[in-house]
Amino acid sequence: MTYAPFPFARPRRLRSSKALRAMVSENVLTPADFIWPIFVMDGTDDETPVPSMPGVVRRTVDRVADAAREARSLGIPAICIFPYTDPALKTEDCAEAWNPDNLSNRAIREIKNAVPDIAVMTDIALDPYNINGHDGYVENGEIVNDRTVEALVKMALAQAEAGADILGPSDMMDNRIGAMRDALEEEGHQNVTILSYSAKYASAYYGPFRDAVGASGALTGDKKTYQMDPANSDEALLMIARDLSEGADMVMVKPGQPYLDICRRVKDEFGVPTFAYQVSGEYAMVQAAAQNGWLDHDKVMLESLMSFKRAGCDGVLTYFAPAAARLLADH
Ligand code: PBG
Repeated sequence: MTYAPFPFARPRRLRSSKALRAMVSENVLTPADFIWPIFVMDGTDDETPVPSMPGVVRRTVDRVADAAREARSLGIPAICIFPYTDPALKTEDCAEAWNPDNLSNRAIREIKNAVPDIAVMTDIALDPYNINGHDGYVENGEIVNDRTVEALVKMALAQAEAGADILGPSDMMDNRIGAMRDALEEEGHQNVTILSYSAKYASAYYGPFRDAVGASGALTGDKKTYQMDPANSDEALLMIARDLSEGADMVMVKPGQPYLDICRRVKDEFGVPTFAYQVSGEYAMVQAAAQNGWLDHDKVMLESLMSFKRAGCDGVLTYFAPAAARLLADH
């Protein structure tokens, strides 16, 4: 890069008015960048707040269509469903995970019936259905891979049958994408997409989410034998390459803001549709600071979301989706 000397170059010239700033801005944030994660629970016509995520609720399946209509009116293209599973349904074999009528599958059908043009994304991992809160089966203290993948494939097929557009494997088992892609092809679901949680770190930022889905009490130990070490960056690129080679259509880095360096490396290296998950802890930190009057909520929200665009992401899973979309519409 070359740069003319002062005063030929006065970089502040291009910052001197709103119009000029708009002309030279390099990135834009729009509601089409958002995937909105929502929490679903049993019951009728009800919602309960998630205390560690101010502004976020768990809603009953019959209210999920309202969220979908809200997303459509705001220009948000996709909703991601997370179930708050009744503890009585958590078992060692996790059979509820592929029950065609489980909470998540009912919510998928509800949205596809009410607002067919909203893309529905799912989560694939055993943790909401597992008595020990892990994403895979636990045998003698070990989270076993291959048997878990068989269960995840059943889960994926049940979600595809229910009408899911985007499957989101968040389990970090080996070979899960390949196994799911084979099964989807075999069962005639060749247009179902996979947005893989490819580079998912063993992060402490997931704490509020585990409260929201009721998994924090259940979890024994940590997830370090399957989720990635926060010290690693090259490994993330290998995980992305692996998932693409197995049939992922889109890839994700998770958490988001603490891992923007990974997002940029992934986008530069592969040029594939790249998403980040601005996770529950990131959301909770902004809300907590804003509630204390320490940060300007709206400005920090939009600045945090813009950081993903700057890092090369095509979109971001964010609990801020409706609030940010509303704000962008007003601008
Ligand atoms: C479960 C899953 C988690 C999140 C998404 N899917 C938690 C975990 O891995 O323990 C976290 C999302 C968030 O923190 O917002 N496999």
